[in-house]
Amino acid sequence: MDTAEKVDWAALNAHAAGRPARRLVTKAITAAGGERSPGVVLEIGAGAGADALQFARRGWMVHAYDSDDTLAARLVENERMSGTVHFHHTDITDVQQFPTAQIVYSTYTLGLLGPDALPRVWDRLVAALPRGGVMAVDLFGENDSWAERPDVATLPLPQIDAMFRDFHIIDRTVRDEDGRFLADKKHWHVITTLARKLR
Ligand SMILES: C[S@@+](CC[C@H](N)C(=O)[O-])C[C@H]1O[C@@H](n2cnc3c(N)ncnc32)[C@H](O)[C@@H]1O
Repeated sequence: MDTAEKVDWAALNAHAAGRPARRLVTKAITAAGGERSPGVVLEIGAGAGADALQFARRGWMVHAYDSDDTLAARLVENERMSGTVHFHHTDITDVQQFPTAQIVYSTYTLGLLGPDALPRVWDRLVAALPRGGVMAVDLFGENDSWAERPDVATLPLPQIDAMFRDFHIIDRTVRDEDGRFLADKKHWHVITTLARKLR
């Protein structure tokens, strides 16, 4: 696989539609104190929506962004949830301003925006969080196989830490292991950070 554009995200997302929500959802809600008063969450690269729907089941209003519209077919589930998913079918790099949110959540997507776009999208996501807001996101590290690809942002840890300079880091997990992506073997180096905005 040479470029992110060649990935059939619709096929991948359809395949992943039934996966359970990630534990990062619960961690983010707990960090935001949101069991008592759910608020707004932005999900960047929502895929088939397993995590967006879990936030909504727990009462959150979700703005879910993705250029693939697999999630659109699942919005009927809004009827059965105390929260709501609003799906934004768009290229994330085209979003100039995100709604204010108490949580920004993103898995396996920010690095795909590429090294040119990621810094400006990051600034817009940080701007969407008020003081005390929670960032729950992963970024690809420099050991990831995709470090060879100019269209994917893979970052050394000090650079990731610098992105969180206005945050208190609550939790950090690192996936650094051989695995697969579709039919290909690859090394995953995925650094997941849960952090609260300080100012
Ligand atoms: C690897 S999937 C991750 C999906 C989900 N977050 C998960 O963890 O299962 C990456 C997702 O990002 C979306 N994506 C990648 N680049 C995008 C862009 N520039 N704008 C909008 N969505 C994008 C793809 O359509 C895909 O659904």
